Amino acid sequence: MQTLKTNRRNVLMGAAAAFVASSLPALAQNNSTLHVIKDPDCGCCGAWIKIMRMSGFDVTVQNASNEALYGYKLRNGITEELASCHTATIDGYFVEGHVPPADVRRLLAERPDAIGLTVPGMPYGSPGMGPESERDTYSVLLIRKDGETEVFAHYNGA
Ligand code: CU
Ligand code: CU
Repeated sequence: MQTLKTNRRNVLMGAAAAFVASSLPALAQNNSTLHVIKDPDCGCCGAWIKIMRMSGFDVTVQNASNEALYGYKLRNGITEELASCHTATIDGYFVEGHVPPADVRRLLAERPDAIGLTVPGMPYGSPGMGPESERDTYSVLLIRKDGETEVFAHYNGA
C-alpha cells in the first residue's frame, strides 16, 4: 500500500511539475496575438510592448521568473547568444527581444520555415531601447530550424 501511495504521489508531483513547465505556452499556429513572456521587473520589455500595441498588434503579457524564461528560450532553440530579454510568440513563430514591428509583419507575410526572429542582446536605439536618433548598428536575425541564423533586416547606426 505504501508503495502504491508513493507512486501515486510521484505521479501527481510529476504532473504538477509538467503543468508548471507547460504554463509557458507552446507555439500556437493561427494565433495572431503577440503573446509576450517577460520578467515582471523588465522596463524595456514594457517599452517594446507599448510600441507593438501602438503599431497595431494585439498583445497579451505573461510574467515569468528569469529562470523559467531562460529555460523556455533554450528549450525552443533560442540559445544564450541569440537571447534578449522578453520572448514572444505569434502565429507559429518566436520573436525574441526588441524586434521592430515592421519585421514581425514581414515575417508573418513571408512565413519562412524558421523558429522566428531575434535581436540578440539589447542594442541601443532598437524599439523600446532608446531613441532611434542615437541608434547603434544592429541586425534582426532569422533563426532557422537547424539553429542557423541569417540576417533578416539590418539597421545602420545613427
Ligand atoms: Cu529589453
Ligand atoms: Cu524585453
